[in-house]
Parts: sequence; structure tokens; C-alpha cells
Amino acid sequence: MCGIIAYTGTKSAAPILMDGLRKLEYRGYDSSGISIINRKRIRTFKAAGKLLVLEDRLPDEIAGACGIGHTRWATHGAPTDINAHPHMDESARISVVHNGIIENASALRKQLENSGIICVSETDTEVLAHLLASHRGPLIDAVRSVLKKVQGTYGLAAIDKDSPGSIVIARNGSPVIIGIGDGEMLAASDMSALARHTREVIHLDDGEVAELTATGFTVTTLDAQPSTKSSSQLTSELEEYDKGGYSHYLHREIHDQDNVVLKTLRGRLDTRFSTAHLGGLNLHARDLLKFKRIKILGCGSAYYAGMAGANMIEELARLPVSAEPAAEFRYRNPIIEAETLYIVVSQSGETFDTLAALREVQRKGGFVLGIVNSVGSTIAREVNGGVYMHAGPEVSVASTKAYTSMLTVFALIALMLGRLRDMSPQRGSAMVHALDELPQHIKDTLQLEDQIEKIAGFMASATSTFYLGRTDAFPVALEGAQKLKEISYIHAEAYPASELKHGPLALISIDTPCLIILPDNELLPKSLSSLEEIRTRGAPTISITDADNEQIDALSDHVIRTPRVDSILKPIISGITLQLLAYHIALKLDRDIDQPRNLAKSVTVE
Ligand code: G6P
Repeated sequence: MCGIIAYTGTKSAAPILMDGLRKLEYRGYDSSGISIINRKRIRTFKAAGKLLVLEDRLPDEIAGACGIGHTRWATHGAPTDINAHPHMDESARISVVHNGIIENASALRKQLENSGIICVSETDTEVLAHLLASHRGPLIDAVRSVLKKVQGTYGLAAIDKDSPGSIVIARNGSPVIIGIGDGEMLAASDMSALARHTREVIHLDDGEVAELTATGFTVTTLDAQPSTKSSSQLTSELEEYDKGGYSHYLHREIHDQDNVVLKTLRGRLDTRFSTAHLGGLNLHARDLLKFKRIKILGCGSAYYAGMAGANMIEELARLPVSAEPAAEFRYRNPIIEAETLYIVVSQSGETFDTLAALREVQRKGGFVLGIVNSVGSTIAREVNGGVYMHAGPEVSVASTKAYTSMLTVFALIALMLGRLRDMSPQRGSAMVHALDELPQHIKDTLQLEDQIEKIAGFMASATSTFYLGRTDAFPVALEGAQKLKEISYIHAEAYPASELKHGPLALISIDTPCLIILPDNELLPKSLSSLEEIRTRGAPTISITDADNEQIDALSDHVIRTPRVDSILKPIISGITLQLLAYHIALKLDRDIDQPRNLAKSVTVE
């Protein structure tokens, strides 16, 4: 999704803005641009395509110590030079960058046209530039007044050539974070763009407008009332935003997972009471016992993690749990019950639909816990309690380490709730032990990479594939198929293996490689018959299993044998093999793995 960076200080702004834009690239974008004020003049450079195209267009030196920059992910209007941000008014006095969607842009555009102002781009953002320019007086007053007329979501930054050195930012539904520097101030839509310059940040809340100068800032509401803000410290280290010697962020993050799980588990396993200790829930044991059901909400991989988590909790705590895509949930006028515990799951903590679902539940009086990675994010701040994942920043658009960390948090919650209900101390102790050993098992799983790389060639020529699994293995199949689609662009359809004969068998042939997850459990014989059904139709097969079963070898072209772990944790292990498989297939196909087409890291619009 779009990214914003803004700088005011004493240094040359252009290189700082360009560096910030590079840090925002991972979010997904299709054009970019910067505006710099110098000597009461704003110079703007923009380009469709990658940042390299913009870089080529920049003169060797652009004077000016105040400016704004943007990476755009097209929503209103094609990804062209003209539609790229920043947008200016006709006299080039105001320049503005904007994330989000202005819903009444066409009505506002008509009003502008009636007064003789013609918009040159197809974007909703340009409307803001013209409206801001129609106000005389301080830019901050113009921003407040214009935003009162705007319906929709925005994170924005604007500059005015008549107030050099000052930047006005505002937020409604799309994140903007202030970075407090030494004699300089920054703003960005994402921590990654700030980490190099400062460790001290302030999150703007919806309905707030701030003015930044090199030496300070003020935050007010749209009605010009002062807002009291306190700063927080960045939790991630600068090097966590690097590739760390790997050729892709995705590869680094897959290989980080043993360490990530270690961090997710740190201080949370309680050997004395054979349970998990989760500090931030804001719920006592007595409150937790009141809940009769759990509903998990998230989008994309977070939703699939929620499906896997639902199985874990249901199995260990014997509570009915279901997961639902956050957007579907919020639009179907859901019944919110006091006896249901709601859990929202989000890596970024900024996904628009997940945030909207959270607000809908709270509006109807429900209690919501968050499983969130990004510290201080909007969802993290708005939930009633929660568990931070501590996975570190995830840069790759395709989620891997955050997904694995989400599953680890669910295993902790399942253990904690299980031990509050009727799980025996012995089972609890076995779970604590299994979780403690999980990082080592993940390390062992990552050792399967050479074998998986060889199998990747076998799948890379396919145009359509099936991913199959039963019960606990089905969400793993969904997430594995998602990974393949996202980065290799090969069609992958996940099905519960039990549903094969109710539809997909019609498509199974020698041209459709099938991947089946067969955990060693009481359903293994059933999964074996599914494998046989596929084999009979001549489909190439890959089996992921921890079972020592000769029939699997006889029926499969390839078998990936995973380390044996506690049954609850099997989805974590098999999931990692599917991440490696998707990565190596995409590599063989020479895909742009860290910038998959049409996808954004964090979807902050509807
Ligand atoms: C986007 C990303 C997915 C991610 C989903 C939810 O679609 O491409 O990888 O799973 O958003 O993101 P969240 O930050 O809420 O976990």
C-alpha cells in the first residue's frame, strides 16, 4: 500500500526522502515522487514504476531541507507519472501526499470545476491540493478546514511554499507516525522509514492534525483543540530491516523463524504450573472462565493463522472456536455476545478491515484481544488486551515469520486456556516442553531446504496445483497454497482432502500436481485413501508427513519428512516446508519475490 515520508531539518531533504521511500518499497507500490521546498519554491519530481525511474529523473543536487515523499499503490487512476504523488495546486504553492481514499472526491472535484479549477490527474488526492490552496492563511488552518469537508480515510502530509520548514500531517484511518530527531522532525506511514533517523516516535490518532518544524511539533484535533501525546521508543533494530546476507527478505524471514519463535515464547512458559503466562490480556482467570466461545478475526495469512489457532484452542481448551475473515464478519451485522471472547490477529496492526471489525465488536460491547506484531500500531492501541508477537519487523509482502509467530501465540493461548479448564498438569507439562523445543524443531525443518529445492523444479512448470489436508492440516494447506499463489503466480487451490470427491476430483489429472499433508494421527488412513484417489488419476504427488509409513512412499513422487512434534504444533512445522517450497518455485520462475505483483504488505484501505 501507499507510503509517506516527510522531513524537515537542516540536512538536504532529498536523499533522506529517497532513503525513506526505499524503506517503504516493501509495502508494494507502482509509482513514487518527492516535493522539496527551497527559497519559497516547491520542486516536485515523480515517476511511474520503480524508484530507480524516479532516481534517474532527479538532478544531482536538489537544494532544500524540507520535503515530502510518497510511494503510490494505485486505487483511483492508473499508475502513471501524472497520477503519482505529490499533487500540487495550479500555482504550485501547495504539495500534498496522501494514503487512503477520499470517498467524496468526485463531488469535491465538481465543485472545483465549477469554480474554474481543472484537475490534471485522475486521483482523489489532487482535489485536496486545490482545496488547500483555496485557503489563505496558515497551512494548518487550511488542512483542518478542508478535512472537515472530506469523507473517507487519509494519512497525509502537506507543505506550503509560503511556510518553508513546516509540514502539516493528519490522520483518519491511515497511519502517520512522527519521528522526533535532534534538530529535525520526520513523519512516515511506517516505522521502517524512521528507524534510521530516530528511536523516539509518536503515533497520531484518527482526527489529529500536527505541524512539524525542525525544532518541534504541535498536535491538535480537527477543531484545533490541543492533543496530549506521549512518545514511545522504537522496538526494532535497524538491521532487522535488512536482508541480512540473504538475497530476499522472504528467504531471510523464513530462516529467522527459529529465533522468532524463541522471542515469541520468551518469558511466557510457566513450568511451575505447566501453563503459559501472558501478561497483557487485562483479564483475570475468573474473567476468562466466563467466556463460552471464541471468535477469531483477521485477513489473509492472519485469517489462516486464526483458523489454525481455532483448532489448537478447541483441542486443548475444549471451547467452541471459529475464525472468520474480518471483512466478511464486519459486513454481515454480526451478533456480538458478552460470553464470546473476540481475538483479532494482525502483523501490521493497521489492516483496515481487521481494525473495522475490532471497532464493530467494541461498539456492540464485545471484549477484544489482539495478537499483533507491530508495537504501538492502531489495533494494538485499540484492543482491550492482547499478546504481542515480538516477531520483529516483517518486510516481505508474503508473510512467513509473522504467521509462524501467530500460530505460536495461539498455542500459548490454547495451553493457558486449557490449563484454566480441564487440561491435566501432565498434558500441560508436555505442551510446555514441546513449545520449549519448538525452535530447535524449526531449525531441523529448515534443514530440509536442499531437498525441497529439488522438488520445486517438479512443481514449477505446473499451471494449476492442489493443496490438500484434513482438519488441522487444512489451514496449513490454505496458507501453503496462498504462499504459492502470492509469489509464483501459479494457481493453487486448497481443499479439505475429505472434499476431494465432492468436486475437485473432476480436475485432477497428470497436469495437476497435488500436495497433501498427512500428519501421523488417527486420520492417516483416511488421508492415505485421498492420496490413492489422486494417484489413480495420474496426478504427480508430494506428501508432507511425519509418519513412517511405506504406503506414503509408494504413492508419492516426493515425500518431505518433517520432525516429529506434539500434535498441536504440527501445523507450524508443515507450514514451514510449504513456505520453502513456494520460495524455491518462485526463485526457479525468476519472480520478483519481495515485490509480488498486485499485492501490498499492509492493506490500510477497504
Ligand atoms: C496483506 C498481506 C498479507 C497479510 C494481510 C493481513 O494482504 O499481503 O500477507 O496476511 O494483509 O495483514 P496483517 O498485517 O493484518 O497481518
